[in-house]
Amino acid sequence: MQINVIGIGAGNPQHLTLEAIAALQESDAVVALDKGENKADLLGARQYIIATHAPGIPLITVSDPPRDRDPADYRAEVRRWHQARAQLLLEALPDVEQVAFLVWGDPALYDSTLRIIERMRGLGLDCSVRVIPGITAVHALTAAHGILLNRIGEDIRITTGRALLDGPTTNAVVMLDGGAAWLDVPDAQIWWGAYLGTELQVLRSGTVAEIGAGLAEEKAALREQHGWIMDIYLLRR
Ligand SMILES: C[S@@+](CC[C@H](N)C(=O)[O-])C[C@H]1O[C@@H](n2cnc3c(N)ncnc32)[C@H](O)[C@@H]1O
Repeated sequence: MQINVIGIGAGNPQHLTLEAIAALQESDAVVALDKGENKADLLGARQYIIATHAPGIPLITVSDPPRDRDPADYRAEVRRWHQARAQLLLEALPDVEQVAFLVWGDPALYDSTLRIIERMRGLGLDCSVRVIPGITAVHALTAAHGILLNRIGEDIRITTGRALLDGPTTNAVVMLDGGAAWLDVPDAQIWWGAYLGTELQVLRSGTVAEIGAGLAEEKAALREQHGWIMDIYLLRR
């Protein structure tokens, strides 16, 4: 079996590359993890992509196994969860030549699909893997604001809300922030985007000192309103 791990871009169906469309059309089935109703729009985006570019290809959804969000040992819990996901996906894999996994953004950036496929191999799956790159949320953010990630010659760090203060914030892109970690860097500039590439897209920019507190309130209100939120931002000092 061949598994096509296809980056689908970060929200806008037009992010899909020609290579991604071709790989999808060569696939016999698509497998997706259903992450529950809060993220239903993400599953909806995959359904839309299949209906548009490869109608008729079966979509097999697997319900995400439960995860402890506040474990004593975070890494151990994530490993246990990935193993449970691998087991469920392995059981759901159809007996076909090519299966596609549609991955949000790019498969190399904060995504566990490739790791889970390795675990499936560990459980006995015999497969080759082909990766098709996708437009990341980082690029959706910079394009939406029309900005560069760095000033001339500077380095860029991509991190999570949890780890923001563990390293430099010359140019720090923050993903996976459940709260408002920007408030910890009051002297930075921020370029923030939520629901990028979708009809719900919201963009804000300014100094953290000026807009940070209001943005934290707005983020909470948007999450309340829509039931979920995905946001990303560049901080620059
Ligand atoms: C699990 S990571 C997946 C990243 C993805 N593989 C990529 O290449 O962009 C999810 C995080 O990506 C960011 N993200 C993804 N899509 C986004 C979007 N449309 N708008 C804002 N942030 C997004 C958010 O920070 C979210 O917490």
